[in-house]
Amino acid sequence: MKLNNQHQKLKENYLFSNIAKKVNEFNKYNSHVKLIKLGIGDVTRPLVPSVIKAMQEAVLHMGDASTFKGYGLEQGYLFLREAIKNYYLIKGAKICEDEIFISDGAKSDIGNILDLFDKNNIVLIPDPVYPAYLDTNIMAGQNVIFLKAAESNEFLPMPDKNIKADIIYLCSPNNPTGAVYTKDQLKIWVDYAIKNAAVILFDSAYEAFIDDKNLPTSIMQIEGAKKCAIEFCSFSKTAGFTGVRCGYTVVPKELKREGQSLNKMWLRRQSTKFNGVSYIVQKGAEAVFSQKGQKQIKENIDYYKQNAKIICDCLNQLDIYHCGGINAPYVWLKCGMDSWEFFDFLLNNAAIIGTPGAGFGEMGEGYFRLSAFSTRDSTIEAMNRLLKILK
Ligand code: MLT
Repeated sequence: MKLNNQHQKLKENYLFSNIAKKVNEFNKYNSHVKLIKLGIGDVTRPLVPSVIKAMQEAVLHMGDASTFKGYGLEQGYLFLREAIKNYYLIKGAKICEDEIFISDGAKSDIGNILDLFDKNNIVLIPDPVYPAYLDTNIMAGQNVIFLKAAESNEFLPMPDKNIKADIIYLCSPNNPTGAVYTKDQLKIWVDYAIKNAAVILFDSAYEAFIDDKNLPTSIMQIEGAKKCAIEFCSFSKTAGFTGVRCGYTVVPKELKREGQSLNKMWLRRQSTKFNGVSYIVQKGAEAVFSQKGQKQIKENIDYYKQNAKIICDCLNQLDIYHCGGINAPYVWLKCGMDSWEFFDFLLNNAAIIGTPGAGFGEMGEGYFRLSAFSTRDSTIEAMNRLLKILK
């Protein structure tokens, strides 16, 4: 018996588990202190009325023999895939129902997709970025190289012609920096991927936070993307599904490598290892795309964006460099010191939890992420506390 020793190469804890551990420790000795959580991007607004109604109706369907559902399609119910297809059409991207796969969230698929690839690939991962990309690639034993993001490239690194990557992760709007690629920049990535027969794994979990009509909300809006990209999206931040769990992955049929269709491979993988998302949850997700649903989720997204503005205004007052927060729910600030030390400083002096930049990669050192997903009152109070200790 041999273990997967790749696990020895991981840091002891996943970033957000590590933070949760530190918070529990703090709570043990400071139970009287009101902690404000601006760390993990977990939503605080409840599900919107359209989603609740759809889920309640779905529960009733499950309680009636004539509408009861057993196993659904592993790929997801057609009603939800059609709603997603139409959502993409509004964006100007044409995809078919059988290119959409419903999942229990983007995180699972981002890890699971590695089942399709050989271990001898060069995997290009942005730094800083959502830590699940690196951890899943370490577990899978892939060869990882980093794509450095910094203030100098506005945290939007572009391809290096001298490097031949096989698998490329892109996250836009970026977690943690909030930077968003333009259409022209994504076109350069698409051209690079086609030229190198690479595959882009595009994480668009925060697409709903983009207000600027000129910015792309999906890589599928870019010419050629269907030949080289897979897109992962989620209802977590868009519709408050962090606890409900639902997402979707778009694997275009045009995407072929070594004569094989990645769409077919993914369907084969999913039908073997996944039994689909519950009918009740998929009904709730479908309601997100109704006219009412779209209006209601937009109100919640605007609420979070207003929180982000409150955070940015405070950092402006303190004259602290920051970015993000406009087309994204995260504000990325320069803390000018070791980011874990800054984490401890904020926790111990203001009872605020954020996320150290180093947790997103080496290039994140010296930076810190604040989430806009808290309540309005807590965000305002956190900024008052920040002003007190940093002014
Ligand atoms: C984050 O805080 O980066 C996200 O909430 C984590 C996630 O989506 O899994």
